[in-house]
Amino acid sequence: MSEKTIIDIHNVSKTYNYMKIRRKEQGPGLWFANIARLKRSKEREVRALNNISFSVEKGEVFAVVGPNGAGKTTLMKILSGIIYPTTGKGNIAHFDIIKGHKKLKEMIAFVSASFWMGLEWQLTAMENILQYATLMGVNNAREKADELIHFFGMESFKNKRVPELSAGMRQLVSIARGFIVERPIIYLDEPFVSIDVEKRKLLSQLIEEKQSEGKTILISSQVFTDLDVFHPRALFLNKGEVVGIGRANELMKENNLIPYEVSIDAFDKETEKVLLNKGIIATPVPDELIQLDNVFTVRLLVRDGMVNNLIKELIKRKIHIFELSKKDLSLKDAYLYRVKNETYH
Ligand SMILES: Nc1ncnc2c1ncn2[C@@H]1O[C@H](COP(=O)(O)OP(=O)(O)OP(=O)(O)O)[C@@H](O)[C@H]1O
Ligand SMILES: [Mg+2]
Repeated sequence: MSEKTIIDIHNVSKTYNYMKIRRKEQGPGLWFANIARLKRSKEREVRALNNISFSVEKGEVFAVVGPNGAGKTTLMKILSGIIYPTTGKGNIAHFDIIKGHKKLKEMIAFVSASFWMGLEWQLTAMENILQYATLMGVNNAREKADELIHFFGMESFKNKRVPELSAGMRQLVSIARGFIVERPIIYLDEPFVSIDVEKRKLLSQLIEEKQSEGKTILISSQVFTDLDVFHPRALFLNKGEVVGIGRANELMKENNLIPYEVSIDAFDKETEKVLLNKGIIATPVPDELIQLDNVFTVRLLVRDGMVNNLIKELIKRKIHIFELSKKDLSLKDAYLYRVKNETYH
């Protein structure tokens, strides 16, 4: 463990237990009986995380990515002392994730995608931010709230009550509540959900600002493109398992792959198969082709020196190429490369 390590997690697993209570069995007397039955039924267990180990250095932006149910939120909850792991251990800023959970909470600011559900619906956007700041013991809360409101352009709805706010507005209130709390570690769980392109840019800017102040940021997302701006090291999760850890280029097993975006008038599974078999591309093409007026735009991971073969093959198959451009390697390229045919959208 290096001196700069601030998050250090070893073999963390989490199993959730479900309890199914039949209607007529509900009632305090039967509660314990149900727990006893639950313990015997293995099929009611969900392994949300399986043997996760990783570390993060102070001042890093570290990404946690993966599809729905991968275990991102569970991991963040464990790392902030909200829930305990079933097995495994870890230290965050020298506090044990189990024994030091109370102290741990004081080190962390947490923005969660679903935290807006915890907003006080009778209060306005501004009042919600101020109430949270008071709870968290923030000094100069009013001044800081005004700054955040101005930064995110929230003036037009700061005096509206929660039911009158759009989903994106509520998310901005949650974000502002997270950022008003000045802590050395910031967890952002799906912070880009529901907010528009302009606000996403502002949020990225704020994250970079916090990083330059020396804060450590853990950010989860299902949308990789939101994270590429930080060139982060990433933990790839899939069904509770680690699929890879590292920056996009480190996560590839081959270092000769170049992403190209090609706009063509047709694309089918047979073409994909030929390109794969001839070693021109390294991964199957994701399903989400962009199709506009019969122009398909496909992102391909092309092996170095193979781009001419790609063009030749497409021409041979009577596919018309409108445009071909070289791109930078993204986290999504790395993810698709690592999980290959596993479904991911
Ligand atoms: N409180 C809970 N009780 C039981 N099971 C849970 C609980 N919270 C999460 N799970 C299960 O654990 C698994 C991981 O869920 P988690 O919320 O950590 O995933 P996620 O990666 O954050 O997904 P998403 O992208 O949808 O937010 C899922 O199978 C989920 O159903
Ligand atoms: Mg989640």
